[in-house]
Amino acid sequence: MLKTKEILDEKNKLLRQKSKEVVFPLTKDDKEAINKMVEYLTNSQIEEKALQYDLRPGMGMAAVQIGILKRYITIVNEVAEGEFETYVVINPKIISHSTEQIYVEMGEGCLSVNREVDGIVPRYARVTVEGFDEMGNKIKIRAREELAIAFQHEIDHLNGILFTDYIDKNNPYKDKEKYRAI
Ligand code: NI
Repeated sequence: MLKTKEILDEKNKLLRQKSKEVVFPLTKDDKEAINKMVEYLTNSQIEEKALQYDLRPGMGMAAVQIGILKRYITIVNEVAEGEFETYVVINPKIISHSTEQIYVEMGEGCLSVNREVDGIVPRYARVTVEGFDEMGNKIKIRAREELAIAFQHEIDHLNGILFTDYIDKNNPYKDKEKYRAI
């Protein structure tokens, strides 16, 4: 089981590197890593499990966050109380997006950024993501609102980008009126 301390902190330089395209078939290690990531994200959103295993709540994780520089991401979205939708996307790409941009009013979060960071992180309100499932089948996902933000956030990780990079430190709420808060 993946432990919280195994997740790389923002100071770790690996998080600034660009992850490499995955070649199919997936290795046993990659399959195991995916399972651990999904397990962590799911348990982290179940209060008693999060307490029991000392997990930080999160809905997304990129492989690089556990030290694997390969292009795959996992997202576990709670659609109703205790009901989760899981996305595993290998070599994900945003192929289209809305013009409308949104931001998380409470501030975006990241399992690698263990502090509160205020400010606007502009994200597209809707995105279409293409990639592959674990078997190597092509998949296409349309996401909106919070889920769309999660995809953009995780794909950023694969390119060495952290959400904090978008925030103007001197003026964290700059151009607020241009974006819709969610
Ligand atoms: Ni993150």
